[in-house]
Amino acid sequence: MRNTADIQWFPGHMAKARRKIAESLKLCDAVAEIVDSRIPVSSRNPELAGIIAGKPLILILNKCDMADEKATESWIKHYASLGITAVALDCRSGKGIERFKTTVKTLLKDKLDRYREKGMVGKTLKIMVVGIPNVGKSTFINKLGRVTKAKTENRPGVTRANQWFAVDKELELLDTPGVLWPKFDDRTVGEHLAFTGAVKDDIVDPEDLAVRLIECIKYREMDKLTERYGVEFSEDSYEILCNIAKRRGMMARGGEADTVRASKTVLEEFKNCKIGKITLEHPEMQVK
Ligand code: G4P
Repeated sequence: MRNTADIQWFPGHMAKARRKIAESLKLCDAVAEIVDSRIPVSSRNPELAGIIAGKPLILILNKCDMADEKATESWIKHYASLGITAVALDCRSGKGIERFKTTVKTLLKDKLDRYREKGMVGKTLKIMVVGIPNVGKSTFINKLGRVTKAKTENRPGVTRANQWFAVDKELELLDTPGVLWPKFDDRTVGEHLAFTGAVKDDIVDPEDLAVRLIECIKYREMDKLTERYGVEFSEDSYEILCNIAKRRGMMARGGEADTVRASKTVLEEFKNCKIGKITLEHPEMQVK
């Protein structure tokens, strides 16, 4: 078993993704970047800001149903202080979708007004949807738009057929033209993506990962661990894991706590939000 520092990243085809995004960006008015509300930093692609330079950006804090509501609010304020418009969304239920639409139209109001003034009926705002795998891009697009015909763009430098989705008379979405990866080489990023299920965690020692998860949440969210598992705070996160095993009656041969089983339970229950709505990254944390 490897340890969490060794989570293997996909080789990454960033150059290709960069080219495809830059190419299709010419057709779009703005970019909607989807991130996971629980880990808004780790679920961003570190190169995207450079790639989309100049285009208006809307940051979608998706899966807000699984995140701490106050933390999501403080992320929205934090991004506003950086001049970035962020909206919270729960794509599964559709909560926040209307707010997304109005936010886009407000952000691009001048453009919409110009289209109207010039009588350009049928001219839509075009938004490119991007994000690393598993943040909910497909769910977002399926919830919001209906498929329109794939169009081969008849413009210099745009060679591929793009898949567009109509939202309403004023808005169209373009599905991600390339795959964006998270920051490959950062241990914290890798762990946070594993905790939330954005990357597979089966190559990592479950005990190692569960102890790291407990370490990450025990200072802010011990009450949730106590409520779920009946365990108390300890500086030693492995001890907390042992106590979870004992409280759950997970005993190995010889009467010892079965910490491997408990680890799998804790990891699974975190992923499924059974421990509670927990945000792992906060604006004041300075996550890299
Ligand atoms: P992607 O295109 O960015 O790769 O992500 P995708 O839409 O496939 O979503 C990845 C997983 O995240 C899916 O779950 C999806 O249902 C879930 N998801 C997307 N948006 C939300 C949200 O706002 N809240 C919650 N709670 N979940 C969300 P899955 O387990 O892979 O599939 P399934 O259970 O939906 O079949």
